[in-house]
Amino acid sequence: MDTAEYERAWRELAEGVVNRKHGFHTFTLATVGADGFPTARTVVLREADAATRILRFHGDARSPKFDELRGRPQVCALFYGETERFQVRVSGTATVHHGDDLCRTIWDAMQPISRETYRTPFAPTSPREESDSDAALLALPDAFQHFAVCRIAVTTLEWLALSRGINPRARHDFDTDGAMRTHFLHP
Ligand SMILES: Cc1cc2nc3c(=O)[nH]c(=O)nc-3n(C[C@H](O)[C@H](O)[C@H](O)COP(=O)(O)O)c2cc1C
Repeated sequence: MDTAEYERAWRELAEGVVNRKHGFHTFTLATVGADGFPTARTVVLREADAATRILRFHGDARSPKFDELRGRPQVCALFYGETERFQVRVSGTATVHHGDDLCRTIWDAMQPISRETYRTPFAPTSPREESDSDAALLALPDAFQHFAVCRIAVTTLEWLALSRGINPRARHDFDTDGAMRTHFLHP
């Protein structure tokens, strides 16, 4: 079974983590809310590990997506690189980390500028009042309480490579024991 494009998918994801200009640096994360409706938003890809099949992003623990993820951890993540002409769609199960050792390790290693967004006392998506001051920031050590990490364990990875003529596409499903089943698909 030719898995060259599967391996490419993980290479592109890994490149997206370190290269801000790569199309995979950000992705669309879809979650399902308590009302059964999907919601999607852009997040930055922070880790993509082919060996463990884990993706990671960070966010403000107060934002609605983390409540959604705790209630319904099934997610879809969509990546498209225009230069690479390559799409990756992932299904997986999310685990939210908040205030634990993993968050602390990542927080301590983060660029100072990246910690700044967590200093606001206002929860993301809360209504903005005219009196709300952008200057009312928490002390940096207190901002850690707002930092959340989400790890997505990939259960299905699908790729589509745009090329002249044929557009090869395949889906790779993983059993609970990690065995991969590959299905080549019509685009
Ligand atoms: C380019 C870009 C990158 C973003 N990266 C993140 C991110 O890494 N984490 C995050 O929580 N929100 C990120 N956002 C904001 C989200 O798209 C979203 O607006 C916010 O997190 C609220 O989402 P929610 O209401 O679904 O929880 C980013 C937005 C843009 C446009």
